[in-house]
Amino acid sequence: MVETTDVKVPMEASPKTADQIDYNPTDLVSMIASLNNQITTLRMQNSEFQARLLEAMTANKNLQQQLLALKKHIEDSTKPPLFLASVLEVSEGEALIRQHGNNQEWLVERGEHKPEVGMRVAVNNDLKIIRTLPMSLDERALVMEMINDPGIEYEMIGGLVEQIQDVRETVELPLTSPELFKSVGVEPPRGVLLYGEPGTGKTLLAKAVAHHASATFIKMSGSELVHKFIGEGASLVRDVFQLAREKAPTILFIDEIDAVGARRTHDGTVGSGEVNRTMTQILTELDGFGDRGNVRVMAATNRIDLLDPALLRPGRFDRLIEIPPPDEDGRMQILLIHTKAMSLADDVDLSALAAETEGATGADLKILATEAGMNAIRERRHVVSMDDFRYALDKMMVEDEREPHEMFV
Ligand SMILES: Nc1ncnc2c1ncn2[C@@H]1O[C@H](COP(=O)(O)OP(=O)(O)OP(=O)(O)O)[C@@H](O)[C@H]1O
Ligand SMILES: [Mg+2]
Repeated sequence: MVETTDVKVPMEASPKTADQIDYNPTDLVSMIASLNNQITTLRMQNSEFQARLLEAMTANKNLQQQLLALKKHIEDSTKPPLFLASVLEVSEGEALIRQHGNNQEWLVERGEHKPEVGMRVAVNNDLKIIRTLPMSLDERALVMEMINDPGIEYEMIGGLVEQIQDVRETVELPLTSPELFKSVGVEPPRGVLLYGEPGTGKTLLAKAVAHHASATFIKMSGSELVHKFIGEGASLVRDVFQLAREKAPTILFIDEIDAVGARRTHDGTVGSGEVNRTMTQILTELDGFGDRGNVRVMAATNRIDLLDPALLRPGRFDRLIEIPPPDEDGRMQILLIHTKAMSLADDVDLSALAAETEGATGADLKILATEAGMNAIRERRHVVSMDDFRYALDKMMVEDEREPHEMFV
């Protein structure tokens, strides 16, 4: 803070009015100097107060926000909850709904609302429809994933040499050189089904094809379709195929197709009816595709034994490609891929690791490399040693005993 100097006014026996004062020049100069000093001080004080005011305003704003949040919290916790249900059928004046969570079905009055089949509605404790909820785009996005370029190259896939070759001929070539198929007069396979254990690289392979064919990659998940979108499966399938056509050239990848495409059961339950409708819609889309132009459909499953034969008929998924767990050479390639960016000590023997990991999938080997790296990081080392890999291997084997899937058998 600046020191204030008292203003020196020449003292007289009796006070004079301002215009009678006869200042001498020296006094005036010092008076001006002193006033200037005071101005500087006041300016500084002013800016300090401004700063404090700003601080107080910010604090006030934060408190206001907290207050609002608390008010909303109180409101939310005193309101009776609404339940979410999907509309299964609509008739005059009534609607059949299924409550999410417990899957109980209720016949309720439509009230003033206009529920449509497949729509979600909020109902209260008395099962009265309070409002209808349009399906938001975000929720639709849950069931599918669209990537303009997944950026996966074939070189990032270890082993699977023949499978890559197969997929290139049946999916990539028809997209990149359709004229070749036309001039030779051969129709490329309609749909390609990849089957094999989890974590063997099916999704990876589908993404790589999309990348090499410069195609949009759209992934739709069969299990999400049936579990999250009760009553909406068929319309979502229609939407996704529509989107695939709009974004062509496209690889439409249906993951976990067994969730919708399992052998059709006719036990009459609404659940299986719903799954059947979704599956029928997929078949309709596949059949009605003409030569399907710039959209190639691929699907993946771990349970080919469960699939409905209707899906595998000619013109549908008529090319099956098995994606097996990697052999020793494949495991070596996969280990090379996943350790490429790592700093490895000289003692790391990937071929020994490949030999010891019989039964491991690509996903397992990726975890192995990451775990080994994490162990080095934990000990603040910059280089990953063979001991780190041994540690990771032991850890995975122990964990594996708890989870009953076959690894390292
Ligand atoms: N052959 C492979 N080469 C390199 N990495 C692989 C290979 N297979 C799997 N991986 C690694 O494992 C991860 C999981 O693989 P991916 O998702 O392709 O398996 P998936 O066969 O689709 O399994 P799921 O049936 O569970 O969907 C990949 O992101 C990749 O990092
Ligand atoms: Mg997958």
